[in-house]
Amino acid sequence: MIYSRILGTGSYLPERILTNAELEARVQTTDEWIRERTGIRQRHIAAEGETTCDISFHAAQRALEAAGVQGNEIDLVILGTTSPDIVFPSTACLLQHRIGANGCPAFDVNAACSGFMYALGIADKFIRSGSAKKALVVGAETISRVVDWNDRTTCVLFGDGAGAVVLGASEEAGILGTHMHADGGHRELLYTPVGISAGFTDGPNHGLAIHMSGNEVFKVAVKTLDAVVEETLTTHGIDKSQIDWLIPHQANLRIITATAKRLDMPMDRVIVTVDRHGNTSAASVPLALDEAVRSGRVKRGDMVLMEAFGGGFTWASALMRY
Ligand code: UT7
Repeated sequence: MIYSRILGTGSYLPERILTNAELEARVQTTDEWIRERTGIRQRHIAAEGETTCDISFHAAQRALEAAGVQGNEIDLVILGTTSPDIVFPSTACLLQHRIGANGCPAFDVNAACSGFMYALGIADKFIRSGSAKKALVVGAETISRVVDWNDRTTCVLFGDGAGAVVLGASEEAGILGTHMHADGGHRELLYTPVGISAGFTDGPNHGLAIHMSGNEVFKVAVKTLDAVVEETLTTHGIDKSQIDWLIPHQANLRIITATAKRLDMPMDRVIVTVDRHGNTSAASVPLALDEAVRSGRVKRGDMVLMEAFGGGFTWASALMRY
């Protein structure tokens, strides 16, 4: 049996840090409100001209170095993002050329905040089927470009960043399983009104901005993440007490705490980055994973549960022995 296994992780955060205090000066909000309702203290914002491919490249280089793998050994590149550099070529193609993996399949996955989890699930299937041996899987966003900085209900939430893993074929697990879902019936709760074939306006930024009914999304997110965690445990026949680490999507500390409670996990077994990164959409899980690995918390052999929920709605999980 072939499994896929994470050989190395990497991440990158843009230099510029945007604090809650700076947002207080911009919209009618307070540091206290943001911290109490979301857990966020600050977020990183890409520099002018710094693209999703640029930040992905830094994260990819670090993951390749950690894995001891050269760019030209990679035979699959999948990149989860909702903020690609340009419409086409895909950001995965741009990145593939930057790392020197030309020739292998490379494509983006748009599953909003679940983008990395979807990319990981697809790459796992490529490797299990023998179609790839070494995959670069990235979650990266310059989501700040899609934020309406005058809308206090969304602009305090999001941040930019990139996370990457190198997956390799292995006889030893590895990723034990991934679960991916979507329900396109809730578009109006979380969406951007502008795309290529719909929605351009003459207004600022051509009308491109995240619209979110936060409170309703919150309720669906908590319920749905409960369900996918349950599905993951049941499918793999493992008890919640066997999970060493929860690496959740970092949208809101209250959502993270609810999932941890459901798993009876103390918060020191949960990787939290939302306080410093905000919601980096598809980048949030791989950023948290890299931080957990590099800080020495997640170690080889640990049982790790990752999950994400986002626009679509999309939601996904992965269970692995790191
Ligand atoms: O990653 C993709 C999935 N996204 C998520 O999972 C996000 C899910 N949603 C959330 O995280 C939370 O719903 C939010 C953090 C977005 C909002 O928190 P909430 O506790 O659900 O607040 P709310 O939307 O019910 O708003 C409560 C009040 C409202 O005022 P009124 O109507 O009670 O007078 C808002 O207008 O807070 C107000 N408000 C703010 N006040 C100060 C909304 N945004 C702000 C703000 N500063 N930035």
